[in-house]
Amino acid sequence: MYKIAVLPGDGIGPEVVAEGLKVLQAVADKTGFKYETIRYDFGGDRYLATGEVLPDSALEEFRQMDAIYLGAVGHPDVRPGILEQGILLKIRFELDLYINLRPIRLYPGVWTPIKDKGPEDIDFVVVRENTEGLYAGIGGFLRKGTSDEVAIQEMINTRKGVERCVRYAFELTRQRNKGKKLTLCDKANVLTYAHDLWRRVFAEVGEEYPDIEKDYAYVDATTMWMVKNPEWFDVIVTCNMFGDIITDLGAMIQGGLGIAASGNINPGRVSMFEPIHGSAPKYKGTNQINPLAGICAVGMMLKYLDEKEAAIMVDNAVSETLASGKIKDLTAGKTGFTTTEIGDMIVQMV
Ligand code: NAD
Ligand code: IPM
Ligand code: MN
Repeated sequence: MYKIAVLPGDGIGPEVVAEGLKVLQAVADKTGFKYETIRYDFGGDRYLATGEVLPDSALEEFRQMDAIYLGAVGHPDVRPGILEQGILLKIRFELDLYINLRPIRLYPGVWTPIKDKGPEDIDFVVVRENTEGLYAGIGGFLRKGTSDEVAIQEMINTRKGVERCVRYAFELTRQRNKGKKLTLCDKANVLTYAHDLWRRVFAEVGEEYPDIEKDYAYVDATTMWMVKNPEWFDVIVTCNMFGDIITDLGAMIQGGLGIAASGNINPGRVSMFEPIHGSAPKYKGTNQINPLAGICAVGMMLKYLDEKEAAIMVDNAVSETLASGKIKDLTAGKTGFTTTEIGDMIVQMV
């Protein structure tokens, strides 16, 4: 019996999560695994009503679960950062979810803005470090609000944090059935301390993986190659900030934010699965957004829980639905279907 914490969150989060849970139920019925969901209403509305963001008691409860399924957080009436840092980053950091796994894959039947590229060209995974870097939240203001103001935001890179991320990426590259190539995406030409550490760790750990080709790309060039020659990538490993940025670009080359899913992982421990998109407040309640990212996140969660058959079922259902050509455009308002209809289509297909 799996215990799954469900945090629908803000904006379109609840709509996406509702469709993901429909699909979870459908595959559970087919394959026989049992689960219970425990809902938490953390997000903008609760914060505005009570001042509560995410209490430590909830984190303690999450530690007892098998997985967390999150929609999105971020509310137009709440100052940026309060919910994002207070809920999403707090869960990532407190549960030590040090890997953010973000597959970039163009499904057959989906339109990509990249000319002359198809599903065989766009199929790689970004391994984003998820607990350090510029996200660590260390810094401060000096003389705030004056013309002499100083704002400092530190970038934290620990040997341990970099090494466990790089090692995970090498292992994943070994397991994947592609080019056995791992690209370190960094800015070692400018961040000559932080990314010098990344390069040294990459080289050292890489010695244990003679079967893996080691490749280096600066982050600016990475964005260029992702558009020009996405087929060159197998696995990319990168720091927290760069991983955030390049995966929104990645989402667009796989058809849009409506399909891109992610896993926040601490191998062997409770981990969190979510679409990579945000709460898209302008689409809230319109029934026009694409729930596939949230549904694919359920697929990633099942794979993580080692429910292989169920995970493959979700992936095949998404793949076959898209291959049928019915949904060509994954962008909000342009799929030709409502959010709930797309969820129903996937349920029918599993
Ligand atoms: P966003 O990802 O919410 O939306 C940007 C645009 O992407 C939307 O306007 C829409 O055109 C498209 N889009 C997003 N989800 C889609 C879907 N399921 N189907 C189709 N199209 C989709 O990014 P934003 O506007 O920069 O951020 C809005 C809020 O969400 C902010 O408060 C931000 O901090 C937060 N955010 C949260 C998460 C998270 O909880 N994981 C992630 C990113 C942003
Ligand atoms: C993401 C989001 C988050 C991030 C924000 C909302 C804190 O953009 O999951 O990609 O920057 O990691
Ligand atoms: Mn992001």
